[in-house]
Amino acid sequence: MTPVNKLSQAEINPLKSLDEWEDAVLERYPDPESIATSKKTDEYRNYDTPVRDTVREFYRLNHTYQTYAFVQEKRADYLKFDKKEMPVWDAFQFLNQLVDDSDPDTDLDQFQHLLQTSEAIRRDGHPDWMVMVGLMHDMGKVLCLFGEPQWAVVGDTFPVGCAYSDKIVYPEYFSNNPDYTDERYNTKLGVYSQGCGLRNVDMSWGHDEYVYQMMKDYLPEEGLYMLRYHSFYAWHREGEYEHLLDDHDRDMLKWVKLFNPYDLYSKNPTPPNWNELRPYYQELANKYLPDRLRF
Ligand SMILES: [Fe+2]
Ligand SMILES: [Fe+2]
Repeated sequence: MTPVNKLSQAEINPLKSLDEWEDAVLERYPDPESIATSKKTDEYRNYDTPVRDTVREFYRLNHTYQTYAFVQEKRADYLKFDKKEMPVWDAFQFLNQLVDDSDPDTDLDQFQHLLQTSEAIRRDGHPDWMVMVGLMHDMGKVLCLFGEPQWAVVGDTFPVGCAYSDKIVYPEYFSNNPDYTDERYNTKLGVYSQGCGLRNVDMSWGHDEYVYQMMKDYLPEEGLYMLRYHSFYAWHREGEYEHLLDDHDRDMLKWVKLFNPYDLYSKNPTPPNWNELRPYYQELANKYLPDRLRF
């Protein structure tokens, strides 16, 4: 295993853009409604083959390098929130620097995805804090702009410090992870205790935990679960890790499940009209967020 600080460019950013990972998730969990109505799922997808090699390579790196120690190191660094501070709307512009201009017909920019997610939530009449969750849920992807490799920003998340579920995509790549043979971390419970609750579990490092920590004083608990676990597919889609859950997690699961389809299935080639929507969102941000966000 190459030390993390000696990785080549190809090992830092194996994907052409972050959206490639999300497209692969969509491939794995297609929209049941579009199947039922035989609406063409191609509308959402931008490739034909089941999984691109770049996505496989992405997961190989993610599973190899997301060790318990790596997660502790990233938490200690990023959860100080001492990197940057800016007004809320500047933060969306900052995030949008992630646009991948090497691929002209790539997906909408990050802000459009956030807005489409929040608008779909709003259309269905959910509480306004959930609209806010939709708007903020991928803000943590700014980690890429601080130089983090793609596999430490996106990807399905999973608990570190205990045995991996074989329902996590490409479980075979975990055998490359040093924790796999470390007896502190490779038992069913590892460093945790039975039913300890997810709040006591460290997840692989990425945009979910980061945005949760950024928002934890501003949104209700249900919304915080949506942010924190939206990429924890092994839990909310596959029902794994029961041994780590407590009753509160079991109670919150329905909220995480409620959010997921808005994230996965709200993509639409037509961008929302921001000028029309702006007053609503300004008021919403005033209600829930501080004037400036810290990164
Ligand atoms: Fe996300
Ligand atoms: Fe998303």
